[in-house]
Formats: sequence, structure tokens, C-alpha cells
Amino acid sequence: MSIRITPSILNADFSRLNEEIEKVASVSDLIHLDIMDNKFVPNFTFDFDRAAEIIRDCPIPVDSHLMVEGPEFAAPAFAEMGSASVTYHFEAASNHHQIITSVHNLGARVGIALKPGTYFDVLEEFIDEIDMILIMTVEPGFGGQSFMSEMLGKVKRARNRLGKNERGVWLQVDGGISPSTIESAAEAGADTFVAGSAVYKADDPAKMVEHLRDLATPN
Ligand code: DX5
Ligand code: ZN
Repeated sequence: MSIRITPSILNADFSRLNEEIEKVASVSDLIHLDIMDNKFVPNFTFDFDRAAEIIRDCPIPVDSHLMVEGPEFAAPAFAEMGSASVTYHFEAASNHHQIITSVHNLGARVGIALKPGTYFDVLEEFIDEIDMILIMTVEPGFGGQSFMSEMLGKVKRARNRLGKNERGVWLQVDGGISPSTIESAAEAGADTFVAGSAVYKADDPAKMVEHLRDLATPN
């Protein structure tokens, strides 16, 4: 199983993002771009124009995580901006099939994110259509929160459900991923790891990405 490390720039210095991304680009699989609208979550990150610039300037593929209301509009917009992967929140959407089809038609992967309180079973109807499952391991909205180890059961459940996983669906965890939590998430079956503060608070962010990758890689 291949492992992906997707650093989140939420806790990077927004005033010099290109340099911040440059620090980790050569050792990361994708850059995780958190989009918050101050409605679905009580925080705001980037408007669509700024997000489009970030995606355009990013030297590696972008994994857009939309913590926004109205993903029916936002998800295809982020695919059109050039995101390699667009993840929206299950709780925010009313027309999943429409979102999935529109993102696929624009050539991007599509993921569905589940807040800690949302049961895995809600995905059953869509699991054969999506490319990534994102199990939130904190309440979405802020970086630097503690990893919720009680979410590991949901990660295991997702891994079991994927079974042989012939379509190569990614299983991502986001929130509180650090050297002290990543191994438990990997053992539970996650293969794609968001890390924000662990990477950007490290003295050497690139070294931290490599360290996280080593810890997540099965021996
Ligand atoms: C939280 C965001 C995360 C955040 C993770 O709502 O979705 O991507 O950046 O930050 P850490 O790794 O600090 O928990
Ligand atoms: Zn995120």
C-alpha cells in the first residue's frame, strides 16, 4: 500500500505561502489546502480568487479540503481551478451524485469528509463512486488540536469496507497527525495523512514530512 503525506498550509505563514510550500514540495505528495467559509466552520481561510492563485502557483498537486456550505457550487469550482483532488463535507451537501459527477467531469479526484460525529455508514451509497474517504480526527475548523484516538475505529471500519480496494480509493486522516499519532492511524488503515502544525512548527518541515512518512510506512 502506498503512503501519501499531504502537508496542510493552514498553520504556515500566509504572507509568504510560496516559500512555505517550497519548503516541503520535494518530499510531499500533495499540498492540502483547507478552505473555510466561516459558515460551515467558525473560521475563514481563503476566498476563491486567492485559492485559485495558490493552486496555480503550487509546484505539486493540490488536495483541496472544502469546509464550506454549498459544495454543489464550490467543489466543481475547485476542480476547475486545477485541484488534483477535491474533498467536500458529507454534512454540507444535499446532492452528492451531482457533486461527484461534476468534479469527475472536470478531471479531478473527489473525496467525502466525515466530521467526528458522522457515522461511516452514511458513505455506503457513494463509496463506489468516490476516490477518497477523509475521516476527520478533530472537529474541523482549526489547526493544532489534539488527535481524537476514538476515531481509529472509524478508520478501521473504512479500511475493512474498502476490502481489496480495486479502484484504489485513498483513506485520509486529518487533524492532530504528528510523530506520536501517525503510527496508530496507519495501523488502523489510513494511507493518506494530513499534517499541519506538526510540519510547520518543526524546525525543518521537510525533515518532518520524511519522518512522518517513515513512521507511516509499514515495515
Ligand atoms: C482542520 C483542517 C486541518 C488542519 C490540520 O479543520 O482540516 O487540515 O490544518 O492541522 P493539524 O495537523 O495541526 O491538526
Ligand atoms: Zn484539512
